[in-house]
Formats: sequence, C-alpha cells, structure tokens
Amino acid sequence: MIFRYQDDKLFCEMLALEDVAESVGTPCYVYSSAAILQAWRAYDAAFGELPHLVCYAVKANSNLSVLKLLADAGAGFDIVSGGELFRVLRAGGDPKKIVFSGVGKTEAEIELALQSGIGTFNSESEGELAVIDQVAGRLGLIAEFSLRVNPDVNADTHPYISTGLRDHKFGIDIADAPAIYARARQFTNLRASGVSCHIGSQILDYSPILEAAGKVLTLIEQLQAEGHAIRHVDLGGGLGIAYKDGENAPSIATFIADLRERVDRAGLTVTIEPGRSIVGNAGVLLTRVLYLKKSPSKQFVIVDAAMNDLIRPALYKAHHTIRPLRATEGAIVADVVGPVCETGDFLARDRELPAVIAGDLLAVESAGAYGFVQSSNYNSRTRPAEVLVEGSSWRIIRSRETNEDLVRGEEPLL
Ligand code: LLP
Repeated sequence: MIFRYQDDKLFCEMLALEDVAESVGTPCYVYSSAAILQAWRAYDAAFGELPHLVCYAVKANSNLSVLKLLADAGAGFDIVSGGELFRVLRAGGDPKKIVFSGVGKTEAEIELALQSGIGTFNSESEGELAVIDQVAGRLGLIAEFSLRVNPDVNADTHPYISTGLRDHKFGIDIADAPAIYARARQFTNLRASGVSCHIGSQILDYSPILEAAGKVLTLIEQLQAEGHAIRHVDLGGGLGIAYKDGENAPSIATFIADLRERVDRAGLTVTIEPGRSIVGNAGVLLTRVLYLKKSPSKQFVIVDAAMNDLIRPALYKAHHTIRPLRATEGAIVADVVGPVCETGDFLARDRELPAVIAGDLLAVESAGAYGFVQSSNYNSRTRPAEVLVEGSSWRIIRSRETNEDLVRGEEPLL
C-alpha cells in the first residue's frame, strides 16, 4: 500500500504526509514516484513479447518531473497540443515514441511536431490530413498517420468523458474510414500506418473497449486487403481507477491480458494511451481545515483547497475520498467546501468523515490525474505546489504560485 496509516499518521511511501504539509504549506499536491512507476511497468510487463508502445496520456498530469520519471522508464507519450509536445521534449521524452492526438491541431502545432520527429499523428478529419500533408511537403518529410475512428460503442461513464458515440465530436465514423484511407492516397507526403480509437475515460467495465478493439481489427483487415500497409493499432486510454473504498477497478494486468486475446494474432504493434490509471491513485491533494460552520441543515468543513485546485467534484460530481492526515476518533456528516465564491465549490457533499476540527490536515485522494492540470487561478487564487515522493525523501516539483505569477503579462491601463 502506497498510501496507508502508520502509527495513526497517513504515509505516502515511507514519508508522513504531515511533514510535507507543514513544510510546503497547503493546498499542495503530492505524488508517489513508486506508484507511478508501478502502474507504468504493469502495462509494459502485461504486453510481454507482443510489440507494443505504452504512450502515457500527458493531459492527465503533465508535470515535467512526472514526465521525466516515465521517459526514463521508457514510456512513450500521447500528446494533444504543442504545449504538451514542448513539455515532453523538455523532460527528455523520445520524440519517436510520441503520438499526437486531438480533434483540432493547428498548422503551427503540426509543423513543430514534424520538425521534432514525432512518431505518428492520430488524425480526426480529412481537412487535418490535408494540412499535415502540406506541411510535411514543405519540410520535405513523410508523415505517418492513423485515423481515429469512432466505433459507435457506448462506454458506460460520465457523459462529459465518453467519446465513442456517433454524435460525439471525436474521430471519424468507422463506416467512412475505408473511403478516407483510399482518398488519402493522393496525399504524397502522408503514409497511413495505423488505425486509432479511444472511447472514453474512467471505464470500469472494459468490455466496450474490447468491443471497439474488435471493430477496429475488422477495419484493419479490410484496409490491409485494400493494400494499405497498416502496421499498428492504437486502442486509446480509458481504464478506470477506484475512487471509493470498496470500488472495484480492473487490474491493469487483467485488462491487457483480455485485450491481448483479441490482438495477439493480428501481427500489429499495439499502442495504448493510459493516463488516469498511471497517475490517478498515485496522488493526493493536501488541504487544511480552516473553519467548521453549521447551518440549520448542514455541517460545513471549510478547507483551504477549492474548485480552482481540484475541479473534478464540481465538474463531474466526482467522488474523492477524504482522510485526515492524523487518524481521528468520531464521525461527522459534512460538506467539505473551499473558499471560492460559488455554490459549486465543494470537494465532497454529505460525506461521512472522521470528526475533524479547525487546523486539521486532510488528504483528498486519487487526485494525481486531472487534478493539478485542470486547476486555475479563479478568484485570483495562486495554484498549489506539487511534490514528488521517493521512498522517505521528497522534492518540490512545482513551486506554489505567487501573487506576482498571477499578474504576469498584465499591465494596468495607463
Ligand atoms: N487518449 C485520448 C485520445 C484521450 O482523449 C484520453 C483522455 C486519454 C487517451 C487518456 O484517458 P485515461 O486513460 O486517462 O482515461 N478530465 C476528465 C478526464 C478527461 C479525459 C480526456 N481524454 C476527468 O477528470 O475525469
């Protein structure tokens, strides 16, 4: 267990989290390097001898130190913007192991990606293929691409993070793909080398991913029969994690074993793009209780972290388990809320918690994915520090923002 109580104190690896909170202050994200590497290696090992590329989805947590950890372990990267490309290169990632996904890449981003020598583009429109072809031609390069197809499979997850249905903006209808691959032959600076697909995120029952894989493999057989040299299949990310005690998330090993049953004999290199399942349960957000307050109908625990630090509860009604850094007797039922001026600013609602008091430190768990990356400066709040733990040592991997950071680039009107 990476996060566990020892002598009534919550530990991350060999480190008491309260030591970090007292030293760095709150709010503060803390990540376990061991948990991140364990999850990445679980993916890599489960593929065994099958040619594969595990491309960490940078959007889940793009801190340079997290990327460096994964780059050193041999990871590839799934990026969706020029900014993510910049980060991966800055962290020492291998450009050849980069796949560039996303529904709307600009010409400038495409040019930067080609100049950097990325592995492949996952493209989602014919218009974009034309731009990649044109830029590649200008640079005297051949660009490899996969079309991201939309298999019309329903991933049973939150509607905002489900992406594989016909009326979603993502991908190209799978039925239209053969004609587009055929027309793409006219682009002399493009080479079709794969097919990709991603049907959603936080998927706990992964049978829709297997169903989508089956549809994509059928398409690949057809494309190969039509003379396209398709060598790889990219099955996206999406594996869910446990956010609640007792919630059952599939193990990475079982998921990949089941996926391999479908793809092992296809003679393809398999790419996947996991984000949440690598970093999600490797991180917590530390926060301090500022005040307790009672209304006629509710108990509020007012903390120093808010929706600008972790927006998932406000945006998706997401559940994040909250535990005190020191085990506490008794129980209360409360809303855990931040200082931001919105009723939607809550980290938990009607939650049974240990009986905390003002000054106590709390950990908001499973916050390693889509936590800091979705933070903002709303209410002119400085964004929190980030810390990486390795065994019993820790380092600040992003300093807490200052008020000067808040106004950088702004000038008052003269
Ligand atoms: N590949 C593509 C093309 C994606 O769009 C995504 C996530 C991934 C891979 C990684 O998926 P994962 O393994 O992390 O499920 N902000 C939301 C999640 C948005 C996911 C967007 N795409 C949240 O906080 O739940």
